[in-house]
Amino acid sequence: MSDITYNYVNKNFIVVGASSGIGRQIAKELAMSDARVLAVARSEERLNELHNEYPDNVTIGCLDVLVAGADEWSNILGSFVNKYGKINGAVYTAGITGMTPLRSFDDILAKKILNTSFWGMINFLKIATKKKYTEKGASYVLFSSTAAYIGNKGQFAYSAAKSAVKTVIRTFAKEFASIPYRFNSVSPGWVESEMTEEFKKDNGGIAQSVVDAHPLGLGHPEDVSGMVLFLLSDSARWITGTDCVVDGGCLLGRD
Ligand SMILES: NC(=O)c1ccc[n+]([C@@H]2O[C@H](COP(=O)([O-])OP(=O)(O)OC[C@H]3O[C@@H](n4cnc5c(N)ncnc54)[C@H](OP(=O)(O)O)[C@@H]3O)[C@@H](O)[C@H]2O)c1
Repeated sequence: MSDITYNYVNKNFIVVGASSGIGRQIAKELAMSDARVLAVARSEERLNELHNEYPDNVTIGCLDVLVAGADEWSNILGSFVNKYGKINGAVYTAGITGMTPLRSFDDILAKKILNTSFWGMINFLKIATKKKYTEKGASYVLFSSTAAYIGNKGQFAYSAAKSAVKTVIRTFAKEFASIPYRFNSVSPGWVESEMTEEFKKDNGGIAQSVVDAHPLGLGHPEDVSGMVLFLLSDSARWITGTDCVVDGGCLLGRD
């Protein structure tokens, strides 16, 4: 249980990528803070588990960010907003990873990585930021990664996608400051989640060098969610266009 609690009564948020890992933890903490949450991902089964845990707070929306266009996003946002009112913020955590070494990468995988973290997010933001869906003063929190700083070896697609995320928050922060909507990103280090479990399975575990690169140890979703709840809150009302690194010291580098 966190030392800090938020009161999000009558506040509405969307979490895209809410069916597992960091996104699910954020959706849970928002629900526990009395927010109404539209939880979006592909897996209806896992979203339903979240809804069953917080039936009064969590509404689910099944959608694949790789194929969802303006109509799908408008439908899902429209029905949530009609029922509860405009959103006060959104979190986009949908992402996949994978190895894409330059001389042998799978073109389809590389594009899927970029499209999930970056283009899927752009397609979502294009619709969500319309004034009919988003309240003045809203906060958008998007997911980058320490990979955007380090350039993970053999992972150009993932590193580039995450770099793009942490750059466009600055563009959007300027573009929407007059409303205002705020845009920030969060860059976690290695967090134990379904994504990293999958990565370990595909790549024979985790390299000791990655473990050693985190002086405070590897992270868990609840090590990252607190930063997101803060950025969504009015306490962060003067923060926009910033990438917040939450990485157990990973970017400190080695002596
Ligand atoms: N874990 C880490 O070490 C780490 C480090 C730095 C940054 N990050 C970033 O943090 C974010 C969350 O990562 P995580 O570790 O929590 O991953 P995760 O457990 O695999 O969760 C990813 C979420 O994205 C959703 N998603 C993936 N593809 C989707 C699609 N095509 N359409 C809709 N939803 C989709 C998944 O739901 P469905 O499968 O149900 O669709 C799931 O809810 C990602 O952007 C990741 O790149 C993670």
